[in-house]
Parts: sequence; C-alpha cells; structure tokens
Amino acid sequence: MYMEGLPLERKTPVIPEEDIRKQKEFCADVRAMNERLPRVPLAWVDTYGCQQNEADSELIRGMLVEMGYEITDSEKGADVIVINTCAIREHAEQRVFGNIGALVHGKRKNPSQIICICGCMAQEPHVAQRIRQSYQHVDLVFGPHALWRFPEFLRRIYLRRGRVFETENSDGAIAEGLPVRRSGAIKAWVSIMYGCNNFCSYCIVPHVRGRERSREPEIILREIRELAEQGYKDITLLGQNVNSYGKDLGCDIDFPTLLEMANDIPGDFLLRFMTSHPKDATERLFDVMAKCEKVAPVIHLPFQSGNTRVLREMNRRYTREQYLEKVAALRARIPNVVLTSDVIVGFPGETTPEFEDTLSLIEQVRFDALFTFIYSPRKGTPAAEMPDPMSKEEKAANFNRLVEAQNRISLEKHQAYIGTVQHCLVDGEGDDPRNNLNARTPGNRLVHFNGDASLIGRYVDLKITDCSTWALFGELV
Ligand code: SAH
Ligand code: SF4
Ligand code: F3S
Repeated sequence: MYMEGLPLERKTPVIPEEDIRKQKEFCADVRAMNERLPRVPLAWVDTYGCQQNEADSELIRGMLVEMGYEITDSEKGADVIVINTCAIREHAEQRVFGNIGALVHGKRKNPSQIICICGCMAQEPHVAQRIRQSYQHVDLVFGPHALWRFPEFLRRIYLRRGRVFETENSDGAIAEGLPVRRSGAIKAWVSIMYGCNNFCSYCIVPHVRGRERSREPEIILREIRELAEQGYKDITLLGQNVNSYGKDLGCDIDFPTLLEMANDIPGDFLLRFMTSHPKDATERLFDVMAKCEKVAPVIHLPFQSGNTRVLREMNRRYTREQYLEKVAALRARIPNVVLTSDVIVGFPGETTPEFEDTLSLIEQVRFDALFTFIYSPRKGTPAAEMPDPMSKEEKAANFNRLVEAQNRISLEKHQAYIGTVQHCLVDGEGDDPRNNLNARTPGNRLVHFNGDASLIGRYVDLKITDCSTWALFGELV
C-alpha cells in the first residue's frame, strides 16, 4: 500500500541529491563568470519533436537562467545556442542537420558563441560521430540521459575551451530537483515517467530514451498542486506510455490511481495525458476518466495500422479487433470523448489492401484528428532491416488517400459542433484580426473568436458558428 512519506522499493535508479547539489554549484560557478561580463549573456533554446522534448527544454532554460543567462527567442545575438533534437523520422533529422550547418555563419562572426546539441538525435552514435567530424563549430553534444549535467558541461567548456561529447548510452535514471523555466502561464507539462519498454519495431525512442521509469507520486502531485496554486489551467501529464506508470515503483499506484489523486487536488484546472498505448489502456482508465471531473474528455490513442498482420510486424501487441473493442469501451463510458490517433503508412511489407484496412478503421472509428506519418527507417530498429518493396509513389498515393479521408471526417466532426455552446479556456492570441483570440474546448479542439485580450487565461462560453477542417469559429455568449 502506498503511503506518503514512506520509501518506495523502486527498481530504477534515482540520481543522488548530492550529485544534483553539485550541479547547482556548477551553475553558481558559471553565473559568477557570467556576472563579470559587460552585459547579461543571452541563451536560445530551439526545440524539435514531442512534448517530452518541450518539457526537457523547460529544464534546460531553467538551468540556463540559474547560470545567469537571459532567455531569448532567436539565434540573433545569442551567446549560447541549444538545439534540442528529435530522432523520430529521417525528415526531422535532416532539418536539424541543415539548421546546425547554418549556425556556422553566426559562429564565425562571434567565435565565443557556444553551440550545444542535445535531445534524442544526440543519443544516436552515428549522429554524434557525424557532428564530431563534420560540424566542428558545435561545442557540446549530450543525450537525454546526461541532461541534468548540463551545467557541468558548460562550465567545462568555459574553463577548458575544448569540445565536450557526453553521449554514453544507458537505461536512464530519474533526476529530481532541477530548476524549470516554463514557457507559458496557462498550460504546463508534467513528466510522470521517462523512457519506453515497448520496442515497437519501427521506433527509435526506446533506443535513445532508455527504459521506463516513473517519478514518485508524491513529487508529481506536489508539482501539480504548485501549478494549480500558481493559476495554471491546463496540465498535461507526459510519458511515452503513461499507462505503464508505476510498474517500476514497487507500490500500488498505477496510472488511473495517479489520475484520481491528481483529480482530488483543489483548483480550477483540467488534466490531460499523453500518450496511451492501446494495449495498456484499460476499462479502469476509462472509468476513472469518466468519473473525474478535472480529467479532460480526450484521449490520444495511437493505432498505427488497421491491419492485424502489420500490427504484429510492428510489435504493437494488439489486433485491429482489440483496438476497436477499446474504442467501444471508451465511448460507452464517455460518449462525446475526443479521440485522436497516430498512424504510419508504408510500413515495410505493408500492401495496399492492408493499407485499406487502415482506411476502413478510420472510417469506422471517425477520429477527431489524426497524425499521419509515412514510415521512415531508423538505424538500429528491427523494421529498418525488413524488406520494403513498395515504391515511394505508391506509399505517397496511399498516404494522400488517408489524409483526404481524414480531412473529410475532421470537417464533419467539426460541423457537428455548429450551434453548440462550448466552455473553453482562452489560451492566447491568433493571427487573424477578425478572430483575434484562440481558445480550447475541454476536448482540446481549437476555437478562434473575437474578444478582449484580457480574457486570456480565463474560461468563456463560446457559441460555435462555423468551422474548417482544422478549427472551430465561435462567438462569446
Ligand atoms: N510513445 C508514443 C509515440 C511516440 S512517437 C506512442 O507510442 O504512442 C509519435 C508517433 O510517431 C508514433 O505514434 C508513430 O505514429 C510515429 N512514428 C514513430 N516512429 C516512426 C517511424 N520510424 N516512421 C514514421 N513514423 C513513426
Ligand atoms: Fe515508440 Fe512504441 Fe514506445 Fe511509442 S510505445 S515510444 S511508438 S516504442
Ligand atoms: Fe522525437 Fe525523442 Fe520525442 S525522438 S518524438 S523527441 S522522444
């Protein structure tokens, strides 16, 4: 039985407090050096990839602020540049390499500038190798496992002026007590676990992010409590598979229980979570979602393929039928749940008739939104070794059919909102002067409307008057 304050029998390593304290001393050293400069030095953090990386960047900014930097939003004039990279697809990597290459010009003008590459790409041996050889202007490369040691690395560069590569692979550990500089005052990310044990055959994440490890419930709940007290309205719990939460903790708190405990925290906020692996999304999770008033009626449940043979090759460990059963169980409890998903087209060996099972699945389920990807081979994953006979053109044609079908479904789903009144959180300004504000429905659908900027951060009732494939349009009631 879990009791606050009792030690956990956790199976995964936690970085000792003593080591975190040392990093704070390194922060103080760098700060002292920075304070001797004629002006406050600037740091820019550029983030690629998923919310986990966004959350990591908030820690990197937190450490930079502690080291005496001011955070800026562009490369211009930056004394330190940190590129937090994503390795999920080839395209993402190419973009990063292009952008790293372009940084050479700024560095020529300002040779004391420090360029750092971190994140998932940095944990791939061939990437670190390529940077070492071909991108001499990069000073520091460190993977997600070494993130908490960033102050130590930066200090080493200041003192020795050599290049630093810290990309040793590991199963990973948990580092608590790092400073954080959050990007907004309305929405916040809270990591509840790191890593992934699922090894889907196409995916690089388990290879670069290590094994599943959960943060302590007490620490997570304290963080949520503080966010609620600070007025945050929208809190997203993060993990590659949140449904595995707690398995390594040696206590009886699983993800639905953690959600229930978070739901009991006083305050006017909504809880979301990302991502759920369908094989571990249980009826108990759906029951808890239905029962907890702070848990938003939305779930991202990636299905990846509608064909059971392809799912098996992907090592997803559920069938098409099992996926559909989960959706039915979910909708039986929360009829209006907003359901979004990820799908891969052109997995090695997928035939066009098998792809058509994906098409029929989306027609059957009718997702509110779908994130569609063309398969991209990742070095070191089993799928990258599988025969992949389908031409690029045929994959692209299948992809286009899928996108077209989903666009029609998204539009129809949005049309059903017209005439309804939605209780929305105003979360910022948009680009269209006629509909200057953006808001989110409880299910996280985007609504554009016209109103005073003072509404940002508040809840409003919006009558939905129009829509597009991507968004709803509304007016204040
Ligand atoms: N942990 C999350 C997903 C993280 S990656 C989950 O399991 O749901 C986000 C999405 O990228 C995946 O759901 C998948 O659809 C896509 N993806 C992952 N690896 C890919 C690859 N090699 N090629 C194309 N898409 C990929
Ligand atoms: Fe990748 Fe699968 Fe893990 Fe998601 S569950 S991160 S797709 S291996
Ligand atoms: Fe990309 Fe790493 Fe996230 S590979 S999707 S940034 S976990």
